[in-house]
Amino acid sequence: MSTPEAADFTRLHTHFDIDDPVFAERFEAVLDHLVARCPVARSEVGPGYHAFNRYRDVRRSGQDWRTFSSADGWMLNPPEGNIFILPEDSDPPYHTEWRRVLNPFFTAAAVAALEAPARAYAAELVARFAARGHCEYVADFAAQLPGLILFQHILPVPVATLPTLFKDIDAYSFGPVEERTAAFGRVYAYLQEFLAERALAPPQNDLVDVILAGVEREGAPCPWVDKVHATLDVVFGGLATTTHAMSGAIFALASDPGIRASLRADPTRMDTAVEETVRLYAPVVAVGRTVREPVTVGGIAFVPGDRVALNYAAASRDPEVCANPARFDVHRHEVVHTAFGVGPHRCIGEHLARLEIRVAIEEFIRLIPNFSLAAGTQPRYESGQLRTMKDLHLRWPV
Ligand code: HEM
Repeated sequence: MSTPEAADFTRLHTHFDIDDPVFAERFEAVLDHLVARCPVARSEVGPGYHAFNRYRDVRRSGQDWRTFSSADGWMLNPPEGNIFILPEDSDPPYHTEWRRVLNPFFTAAAVAALEAPARAYAAELVARFAARGHCEYVADFAAQLPGLILFQHILPVPVATLPTLFKDIDAYSFGPVEERTAAFGRVYAYLQEFLAERALAPPQNDLVDVILAGVEREGAPCPWVDKVHATLDVVFGGLATTTHAMSGAIFALASDPGIRASLRADPTRMDTAVEETVRLYAPVVAVGRTVREPVTVGGIAFVPGDRVALNYAAASRDPEVCANPARFDVHRHEVVHTAFGVGPHRCIGEHLARLEIRVAIEEFIRLIPNFSLAAGTQPRYESGQLRTMKDLHLRWPV
């Protein structure tokens, strides 16, 4: 006999909606249901699309960019006047050109140099609230660390402009929905002006110079607007995503003292804790692709022009590649997941994200070893194609 909940989830097989409140509230349960019972779900929202939920289908389609193109954008139901960011919303060979010039700033070796400043920022942020005995972790820590690193070390902007920029990015990512378009417009205008000023300044041999130099598009220099959109991808790709993942890590540690004990007993498990964090608290839930060649997935025949979604969050919980997937297990020998994507669009910032999450965990438990969720609270989330934790109230003895 099916429970009312199972019946509600079954409705999603043919009427999946990434913005469905049921999906937002019962996120893990819905993902597990889809992986087990519905390899390919149908959505009738907007022009409609199918969502691939199993690891093997997500992996195969993510790798096969000729059949599953990104050029129509990652958004499943883009708003009017949607902006195409780069390299995300492009295919090879143009995509490859952008990755070729951007990748060197994001290799494991390049981001390792950021560990010391990241640790200093993290310790400073924790020190601001440690003596208080409580914090709202998202605003007090997780929403700040990624921006401090990005805007002072990778894409350095004038320090005096940081507070306004942070405020607008925060309003866009976490503020009232009706104010987000205006906040995005201000960030867009800011970055555009910043690039224009840097174009007139002496070169600094940094990421900004590389973006300003641009790449070739169909044999000619790419247009100015593409340089702005490449900057946007780096900025928006790396902030709310990492904020959510580090909030997820601290939530897991607050909810389960056993994880903390395991990490204390064997700090070499930290890398596995970071992988488990992104696997289970995946900020990029699903991304869109357009079918370019006839193809069959999960028994369904697709034709050119069909839209599909790669459900990265679901695929990371597929028992075919991850035993007991709901468990945050720092003792796994190997963590297989799709949280950073697969194929040519695999996250350019994955090494940076890992570094930031690891430093965030290490500095928090070093300075506040014994913390828990504030009584009567649970984190609140906002969910769609991206998932963000809106708040996380913690307390500890002082
Ligand atoms: C936990 C943190 C993060 C997660 C889970 C994450 C996840 C992802 C995923 C799933 C994709 C692939 C999208 C697709 O398949 O279409 C992606 C792409 C991308 N990410 Fe991340 N990301 C994170 C952090 C970052 C950071 C720190 C940066 C840079 C500062 C960044 C910049 C980008 C960019 C530029 C792309 C586009 C790559 C391309 O299209 O070739 N991300 N990310």
